[in-house]
Amino acid sequence: MTLPAGNLYRRREPSRASVWKHETLMTIDVLLIGSGGREHALAWKLKQSPELGLLHAAPGNPGIAELAEIASIDVADHAGVIAFCRDQRIGLVVVGPEVPLVAGLADSLRDAGIAVFGPSAAAARLEGSKGFTKELCAAKNIPTAAFRRFSRAEEARAYIQEQGAPIVVKADGLAAGKGVTVASSVEEAVRAVDDCFEGAAGAEVVIEECLSGPEASLFCLCDGDIALPFGTAEDHKRAFDGDEGPNTGGMGAYSPSGLMTPELTERALREIVRPTLEGMREMGAPFRGVLYAGLMLTAEGPKLIEYNVRFGDPEAQVLMLRLRSDLLPILLTAATGSLAGVEPEWSPEPAVTVVLAAKGYPGAVRKGTPIRNIPAPKADEIVFHAGTTRQGDEIVANGGRVLNATARDADIGSAIAKAYALVDRIDWSDGFCRRDIAHRARTTS
Ligand code: AMP
Ligand code: GLY
Repeated sequence: MTLPAGNLYRRREPSRASVWKHETLMTIDVLLIGSGGREHALAWKLKQSPELGLLHAAPGNPGIAELAEIASIDVADHAGVIAFCRDQRIGLVVVGPEVPLVAGLADSLRDAGIAVFGPSAAAARLEGSKGFTKELCAAKNIPTAAFRRFSRAEEARAYIQEQGAPIVVKADGLAAGKGVTVASSVEEAVRAVDDCFEGAAGAEVVIEECLSGPEASLFCLCDGDIALPFGTAEDHKRAFDGDEGPNTGGMGAYSPSGLMTPELTERALREIVRPTLEGMREMGAPFRGVLYAGLMLTAEGPKLIEYNVRFGDPEAQVLMLRLRSDLLPILLTAATGSLAGVEPEWSPEPAVTVVLAAKGYPGAVRKGTPIRNIPAPKADEIVFHAGTTRQGDEIVANGGRVLNATARDADIGSAIAKAYALVDRIDWSDGFCRRDIAHRARTTS
């Protein structure tokens, strides 16, 4: 190949941006949306970035407030968020939870010319509508449980009678982890259908074949085209030790998943994640943000159970403790550029997070109970705030999942011990936690 002469002789001068960077480091101000343990973990990691100017958070929590300026804006008021971003010259908005994404906050910000990490409402349908995701899987031949959608209860009931149990019933729409029933009998499945059509969650149900196998989560940062694997984790969904009790948003997690070998990760990317990004692009809804694939590792290979369009909570807590690279430029690139060539660096050490929940969770809980002696953070151990608030000088419980004791260490046994040592220093008589978080990792990693 012959290059034009001009190219051969062009002097390579450093760009203005990089010269500037050497002299006075260019920084950007960030607005972080959310108030849970996931957002505390993101704030903690962002705060370590030499490229961060000011960190703002809305609505935040007392843990986040130690790292960020709390912005008094209503996240549901998109015009208000845009005005704040313009006023404060925010260079990147990072959206933690799914609700604002499904409500189109990322669209409003992008339309206003503000960089945002998080998908559009059209792309957030991957989490917001189970029916949408199932149709996409069918169109792109993505391995997932066989399914049917129903908008009439009697048809759903007849289908269940015909299929028999076990069978899975899911309410369409966001249901905060509570819209799924893995029914071991036809009666239980029919009851779940009746609940869906009576309650607010479901004008539609998805009925699925019941899969079996261990579960693992794969996180991918996406720029619309490329999926960059961004860690694996396993969580514990049931409330009590030994996987007993009701389903919850997650009682603990660890990373990496011993089940997600590099080969399985590559297979999941090839068969599940990349076809999804292709399908989203084809329908004019490219996915930018973090795609969280909940996988079941069946005898036939990985199958998609569900997508989430944001970091997991509490999975983000363990990912952030393991990420060595600077999070800020990576999120900014995913939001505005191409992830080609980006190679995040991870600590090889595992991390564990134990959720401290208020007694009664996932049912009704008491708020306002005082929490004392929360240990100070260190590089490899920190208690993230998930559902706390400040009352005078005191930190008090303000939700179901309240704190996340999170630690990293050389092996999984020491990481578990370190996380529980944090738990045991906390003085909160109204809290409980599972005592077996990550124990199954000892046998799989
Ligand atoms: P989801 O909210 O879709 O992640 O479902 C919550 C939990 O229900 C999953 O983590 C699985 O343990 C279980 N589950 C969901 N779909 C299926 C399925 N088709 N077969 C077996 N278990 C399932
Ligand atoms: N831990 C499960 C979730 O974030 O959806």
